[in-house]
Amino acid sequence: MRTMISELAGKVGEEVEIWGWVYRHRVTKNAVFVVLRDSSGIVQVVFKDPNSEAANLSIESSVKIKGIVKEDPRAPTGIEVEGKWIEIVHLAERFPITKDQSTEFLLDVRHLWLRSQKMGKILKIRDLSLRYFREFFHNEGFWEVHPPIITKTGAEGGSTLFGFDYFGEEAYLSQTGQLYLEALIYVLERVYSFTPSFRAEKSKTRKHLTEFWHLEAEMAWFSNEDNMKLQERMITHVVQSLVEKNANLISQFTDIARLKKIEYPFERMSYDEAIETLQKKGFKIEWGDDFGAPHEAALTEDLEKPLFVYDWPKESKAFYMKLADDPKLVKCSDLLAPEGHGEIIGGSERIWEVDELVKRIKEEGLKEENYEWYIDLRRYGSVPHSGFGLGTERFLKWILNLEHIRDALPFPRTINRVYP
Ligand code: 4AD
Ligand code: MG
Repeated sequence: MRTMISELAGKVGEEVEIWGWVYRHRVTKNAVFVVLRDSSGIVQVVFKDPNSEAANLSIESSVKIKGIVKEDPRAPTGIEVEGKWIEIVHLAERFPITKDQSTEFLLDVRHLWLRSQKMGKILKIRDLSLRYFREFFHNEGFWEVHPPIITKTGAEGGSTLFGFDYFGEEAYLSQTGQLYLEALIYVLERVYSFTPSFRAEKSKTRKHLTEFWHLEAEMAWFSNEDNMKLQERMITHVVQSLVEKNANLISQFTDIARLKKIEYPFERMSYDEAIETLQKKGFKIEWGDDFGAPHEAALTEDLEKPLFVYDWPKESKAFYMKLADDPKLVKCSDLLAPEGHGEIIGGSERIWEVDELVKRIKEEGLKEENYEWYIDLRRYGSVPHSGFGLGTERFLKWILNLEHIRDALPFPRTINRVYP
């Protein structure tokens, strides 16, 4: 029977069979050393016979090995396997990845680089995070729903829409599931979705993808105040679950103490205050401008917790946001992660009256006929409601302090890369 590498520590003295891939390989006069990797970890196997079949192995060959588990204080995991038998399942060709290769090359062979220890760990943390997000939503009475990806209804500005010909009709890849989630609150009240979203981003930065995984929620009867409170509790739940249940894994990327501080309530600042703060710090920024990365970094540089910037000028935001008491502003909030990681969540209260919505659609120069169904939602038992969207990769970049957003998912799509 096969034993996973992570379970070997409990089997000292026993004979085990392990299956996996050759991570490192070294032949000396007296022995063959094979570091074996499976999805659960790595372990060193020593064959005391230099003529063992193990001597012929190449990096990334797949093998089955039988051996005895030994305690070894010098080994990183405290154990080692004394190899007794080996079956080479597939002798790998010369593996193209060796030490010290350029970032561009590693992106070209991304399909192979995913086998690295670093990527494997990130992918596990990505999965764990999503489990905790879903756990949070289900605890709060949400239903998971599935909005379409092919749509005619742009929502986040025409300049980042990917358009294509849909049997003679113009259609787009979805930028957000939000408008469809809004239809679903009338039946389920609290809904969330986890979908790919697409942005034809011309910007080449460390935090923009053209395809990202969007976690979105929409809630009937919620004000933006309720919305912000939900977001800070959600982030707290996920970060604290990661820290409490997976400290070992997480601490390989970042200081746990840094994450323990992420507890609601988060910091808050109005857009007006943010502009004033930035001007005092010497930035040439005017009321009405959107923030760039240096502005986001400056606003959060002294903070340990994320910061909500709320009540933005309506011109800087999407058409669907509810006007505030001061009609220059909309009831919305961006959640900025500390340490310059930037915006991780965008959320708002939505316009729920027909007239206000139609006026905003016209003001923004959008084609009203594409939004008829969306306007319709305001005609039959409309209710105040709010929602938000979180970029999964932005969240991971922040939590793990990743240098670039592309490492937060297996096959990144950026302005200059759609292969592999
Ligand atoms: O702020 P955004 O554009 O908001 C919306 O799409 C709303 N409709 C969401 C909603 O209310 N349901 O995007 C939401 C989040 C951003 O805060 C960011 O984390 C992420 O999505 N995001 C991106 N992540 C990676 N690459 C990009 N190009 C991204 N654009 C947005
Ligand atoms: Mg935004």
